Amino acid sequence: VSLKKYNSFGINVNTRYFVEINQKEDLVELFSDEQWKSYPRLILGGGSNILFTKDYDGLIIKMNIKFIESEINGENVSVNAGAGVVWNDLVTYCVNQGYAGIENLSLIPGSVGASPIQNIGAYGVEVKDVFDSCETFEIETGLFKTFSKNDCKFGYRESVFKQELKSKYIVCSVTYALSLSPNINTSYGAISTELEKREVSKPTIKDVSEVVSSIRVSKLPDPSTIGNAGSFFKNPIIPHQKVEELLSEYPDLVHYKVDENNTKLAAGWLIEQCGWKGKVVGNTGTWKNQALVLVNHGGATGKEVFDFSDLIISDVNKKFGVFLEREVNII
Ligand code: EPU
Repeated sequence: VSLKKYNSFGINVNTRYFVEINQKEDLVELFSDEQWKSYPRLILGGGSNILFTKDYDGLIIKMNIKFIESEINGENVSVNAGAGVVWNDLVTYCVNQGYAGIENLSLIPGSVGASPIQNIGAYGVEVKDVFDSCETFEIETGLFKTFSKNDCKFGYRESVFKQELKSKYIVCSVTYALSLSPNINTSYGAISTELEKREVSKPTIKDVSEVVSSIRVSKLPDPSTIGNAGSFFKNPIIPHQKVEELLSEYPDLVHYKVDENNTKLAAGWLIEQCGWKGKVVGNTGTWKNQALVLVNHGGATGKEVFDFSDLIISDVNKKFGVFLEREVNII
């Protein structure tokens, strides 16, 4: 089976086996056959955070469970969505219903099932801020297990599902704790600037969603025309002391304080300073408006993109002594 339409990079590779899961019970049935428990497998949502560098010699499990249910209790809204729901469909549904909390996460590619795994985030909000729980399938036992927010151990683009419990659970659905009384978050500079430009002084969640969407559209390539997986690297988090050293040499260094000891740098800025912004190398390159996004200009192989990312890592390391970690899953 070709995976070309199942990964937003649009890399043309094949998988040996492919199965679609339309309801959680399908997982019970699939894994009742013992052979699949130990077989190499990959859970696929929207395929928007993955780079295939070769054919996949295993089983791809495409999550297709699609439902959205909501329950209102006073001001609180509990929204439960299937892992296969397209993330932005959920955002649109919630914004239209007046359920506040995920409007800043408008237009993030991918699926509901992937949202807790890497704790997706943008424009001052992360999924962990509204996460209530998720129902998962435990592959070893064949039982369903609910994870609370604490169980998930969320961090910046991190969770327990990427660390110690990697590959052991499959997210079937996620419950978000949203609200009828919005807590509008315009802490991210680009949002407030755009709202001012539009002369919106009391933004609704719809305004925020529209502004975020328009910023994303202007900065990020649309994967349906130019293959990409969003930010290719994480923004590096480094000790203050190292930042002070860098600032003395590069006063324009873009940085944000994370906590008492650590500061986050804008990887896009570091890459741009190395001269890589908008560069085209063969069929790949960085996006002209956002150097943190690697793109497939057509016909790129995963290996080509991967090798290109190595060049960037090495240049940034040489110039700034900072190591960029890939955010995208390399398969
Ligand atoms: N910048 C540059 N040159 C570039 C790109 C960025 O100088 O080519 C500088 C700009 O000064 C800008 C700063 O970097 O002020 C931050 O850029 P931007 O607002 O575009 O955000 P980012 O830090 O590059 C992160 C997330 C994005 C998310 C945006 C908005 C990561 C790895 N990426 O990018 O998430 O949409 O913030 O909140 O944390 C993703 O994870 O796939 C993703 C797209």
